Amino acid sequence: MAMRTHNCGELRSDHIDQTVTLCGWVNNYRDHGGLIFIDLRDRAGLTQVVFRPSHREAHALADKLRHEDVIQVTGIVEARGVDPETGKDLTNPRLATGQIEVAGHDLTLLNKAKTPPFTPEDAGKVNEELRLRYRYVDLRRARMQQIVATRYRVTKIMRDYFDELGFYEIETPFLCRSTPEGARDFLVPSRLQPGTFYALPQSPQLFKQILMISGLDRYVQIVRCFRDEDPRADRQAEFTQLDLEMSFVTRDEVMEVCENMIRRIWGQVLGVDVPPVPRMRYADAIARYGTDRPDLRFGLELVDVSDIAGGTEFKVFTQALAEGGMVKAIRVPGGAKLTRKVTDNLAEWVKQFGLGGLPVAKLEGGSFSTGCAKFIEPVRPALVERLGARDGDLLVFGVHPQAAVVHRALGELRLKLAEELDMIEADHWKWVWIVDFPLLEWSPEQKRWDSLHHPFTSPAPEDVDRLESDTAGIRSLAYDLVLNGSELGGGSIRIHDMALQQRVFNLLGIDPEQARQRFGFLLDALQYGAPPHGGLAFGLDRIVMHLVGTSNIRDVIAFPKTQMGADLMTEAPSPVDEAQLQELSLRLALPARQPT
Ligand code: AMO
Repeated sequence: MAMRTHNCGELRSDHIDQTVTLCGWVNNYRDHGGLIFIDLRDRAGLTQVVFRPSHREAHALADKLRHEDVIQVTGIVEARGVDPETGKDLTNPRLATGQIEVAGHDLTLLNKAKTPPFTPEDAGKVNEELRLRYRYVDLRRARMQQIVATRYRVTKIMRDYFDELGFYEIETPFLCRSTPEGARDFLVPSRLQPGTFYALPQSPQLFKQILMISGLDRYVQIVRCFRDEDPRADRQAEFTQLDLEMSFVTRDEVMEVCENMIRRIWGQVLGVDVPPVPRMRYADAIARYGTDRPDLRFGLELVDVSDIAGGTEFKVFTQALAEGGMVKAIRVPGGAKLTRKVTDNLAEWVKQFGLGGLPVAKLEGGSFSTGCAKFIEPVRPALVERLGARDGDLLVFGVHPQAAVVHRALGELRLKLAEELDMIEADHWKWVWIVDFPLLEWSPEQKRWDSLHHPFTSPAPEDVDRLESDTAGIRSLAYDLVLNGSELGGGSIRIHDMALQQRVFNLLGIDPEQARQRFGFLLDALQYGAPPHGGLAFGLDRIVMHLVGTSNIRDVIAFPKTQMGADLMTEAPSPVDEAQLQELSLRLALPARQPT
């Protein structure tokens, strides 16, 4: 005998007159003149159950049911029909089971619930901390169940897709050697070798490369990655990648495999067509959008007006230019309607990105007004032509001796303006591949070269000769896939030659001794027959965020961590027993500290 005959989303008019048994949670209860109505909920949906006084025992028990009690009901499926008194149609078109109700005659209370801190129906209205603390209640609501289901669906599509293409899913270790990849490692002390540590992988990067050297040809894995960095809206310390690597491939082949995967997911989950994804060079992305993950759903492009600005008497412009800086402008269509208060606030807001302020001007009645109008009026024709400005537009100027500051600040301002002016259409998908990244970038703080991706990324073959002589000008074979301003994935063709790998390490300030110490296993493996190879990793959490339409990464993870890296349900991290520390040969230098 099974516990139930149907689920709560299944019953239709076809089932009328059948005796059924359902199990689930009490979503809602109402007493209508002696008739007790229960909305019974399980993963599949809601079914209305009615208890009539004629079934005394069941009715008496139903009278005591409260939110989230777990019950089993047996009854007869009936049509909802019309209210005999008012003639009102009682069917509920918004509910899949809205044609019917179950007239319950047997009721078993499987588990009495304490009054929940919130009901699943109200979870959307309570604060997130409470939801995370009682995650099991939160996860019962329809929205969360839909997200969990979508996430599963996406991984299933991914696995089927890569299986068709001959990829193997291969697990790689979680207890690894610490090989810095950019972020901070999570460390795990070894009991058997006191004083030594494993690191949790920031990604399976080196293992997947070694799998290619091992002749496995095509690898894929849906894998947890760990980075001890501060969580953000689209970032968790523990997140999931769809990670892949292929042997004997060109950059274009890897990009095609990835693009087709995305096409299949968007097609199957949303019914949305993904047209061929355009490519944009890194340098163009920075110049036009101020970032390497441009949001292309709206205009507001950055335009270099340094040459025109140099012809004005405006000190703010001329001084920055004299210091080797730049002036860029954004034309905000119709922005002249923004009040002084709004533009003043924007000027304050951009300061966090290093700008001194935000000169603005409005084009009204054929001439510039407000802000820096009087300084730029003499160059109006040139500015208007360069920017394609029209009456009613607002122009904003980013000025700084360092181009990087102008780009960063205007890149952020672009997003803020688009949001405030409501320029972003819903359900608009703007994909772009960013290519031709520089291999390395100079870190002014650390006074050394840093990889833009990771140290195993191949330089463009035509640039290899100039690696040491023109380091800043070397491009890499890396590619990032960007959707609506968010980086969904990134990858590259790798270095498969030990001598070239060593040259890149040298540029990064990792001498042969250090390289051997940190990456000896990779350098060894590269000498035993390494095929040309490349791959990419997508952020699975981010893909699901886009598909379900949330900007909060915690929504798409069943058991996420807070900004403080805490799991509020299990209360991890937590202090451990002295005995546990001793076993690991560890002693705390400072007392344990937890947020209050
Ligand atoms: P990368 O570091 O760019 O590349 O990561 C790949 C993708 O993973 C997602 N991602 C994150 N998602 C949530 N929280 C985080 N903290 C987080 N960090 C990254 C992003 C990102 O595009 N081994 C290389 C890939 C390769 O070269 O094949 C790597 O890990 O969507």
